Amino acid sequence: MQNETLSVTDNRTGRSYTLPLFQGSIRATDLRQIKVEPDDFGVMSYDPAYLNTACCQSSITYIDGDKGILLYRGYPIDVLAERNSFLEVAYLLLFGELPGPAALKVWEDDITHHTLVHENIKKFMDGFHHDAHPMGMLVSTLAALSTFYPAARHVKDHTERDLQVLRLVGKIPTIAAYAYRHSLGLPYVYPDNSLGYTQNFLNMLWKMTAPKYEGNPVLARALEVLFILHADHEQNCGTTAMRCVGSSLPDPYVTAAAAAAGLSGPLHGGANEEVLKMLDEIGSVDHIPAYIDAVKAGKFKLMGFGHRVYKNYDPRARIIKQTAEQVFAVTGRNAKLDIALELEKIALEDPYFIQRKLYPNVDFYSGIIYQAMGFSPDMFTVLFAIPRMVGWLAQWKEMLDDPEQKIARPRQIYTGRMPETAGVAPQVKNELVGV
Ligand code: SDX
Repeated sequence: MQNETLSVTDNRTGRSYTLPLFQGSIRATDLRQIKVEPDDFGVMSYDPAYLNTACCQSSITYIDGDKGILLYRGYPIDVLAERNSFLEVAYLLLFGELPGPAALKVWEDDITHHTLVHENIKKFMDGFHHDAHPMGMLVSTLAALSTFYPAARHVKDHTERDLQVLRLVGKIPTIAAYAYRHSLGLPYVYPDNSLGYTQNFLNMLWKMTAPKYEGNPVLARALEVLFILHADHEQNCGTTAMRCVGSSLPDPYVTAAAAAAGLSGPLHGGANEEVLKMLDEIGSVDHIPAYIDAVKAGKFKLMGFGHRVYKNYDPRARIIKQTAEQVFAVTGRNAKLDIALELEKIALEDPYFIQRKLYPNVDFYSGIIYQAMGFSPDMFTVLFAIPRMVGWLAQWKEMLDDPEQKIARPRQIYTGRMPETAGVAPQVKNELVGV
């Protein structure tokens, strides 16, 4: 396209500026040339919560919110969910291509080799209270892993970096399962390296006295699909934390702990747990209209609805809804599904939600499936964090290799007092400002 520029006139001075467009965007630092006085700082962009700010260039995940499109490295999410294993998709996100048979075998063996955790991790986790929230245990234990691998701080060393990726992808299911077993007062179950990634996770969760865990293949595949759907999602809150914290070059363990902390919020990955509480609070289909009225009155949000990017149906929610039927064919139908289906139907026909383009998001149906599979609601966000570890690490690696990236340090618009308005005497004022 011709003339990829913007012409801007500063009406304070009458001066005009030509700003180059870059991928349809302007570089915020190009605004700094717009000044009234030569020693002015120049114009900044102001964007609380980064509603319209690109913090990076990325080739990992693409979302078209209006069309409800989600691509991982160019592959549509529904194709991957249908055809591939979670570890294949993890490899795609982390290394840019789907692995061939030989590469996949090496990748699966490497991940399997790193599922064990140091025995002291168990002692660390035993220190948590009996009713500690599994997400709090996960965030803390991810950070604690930093103390076991001091060489991980060499984040610019690709060999070290890839070793930590194997450890984090391999160990997060183990830590998640240990957190769950701790919350039930059950003994930890060691990984069984003869099982695949998701089956092994179920083994560490559910194995009791049987010598060998035999999981239900339908449930294992359903969990695999859910892991694929949750693996990455562009610059969401948790991933932004991964990039922002990672930009000061700490090790990936403390960085991933920061990302997991961001994910744990009820507006983000914690929403799936909130959806279950909401459905329990509604209690029955005939209570839905009153609940919807309360939402429209602004009393609370409809959890599992709405999205910063999707202004259409979240493509992941559509696939999860299909997966729910496969799970319920094994576990029996969950009464909450009927409430959720009716709630969705009513909401999608209501002008309040239509005008605001509020559709079910990935969290609306996932919790119902997880509960039907036997997970307690406080494990739902942990189940989100396991696959999202892959997305966090892929984005972290991309940030580290991006020559444009440096330590994140946004600006601010200062609205506080200056010495003269603070009633500070001039002589003290000079000391304060060091002149
Ligand atoms: C995830 O970013 C990602 O990609 C996240 C995620 C990922 O994979 O990483 O997709 C995972 O976090 C999904 C979202 C899970 N969260 C929830 O389900 C919580 C409920 N949803 C909302 O809190 C909300 O929709 C957000 C946080 C998801 C998005 O909020 P935005 O983009 O800041 O939108 P907004 O709050 O500015 O809302 C715009 C309007 C407002 O109404 P008005 O002030 O214009 O009258 O829509 C209303 C909001 O009140 N609104 C809702 C609503 N969500 C927005 N009203 C009722 N129920 C809701 N759920």
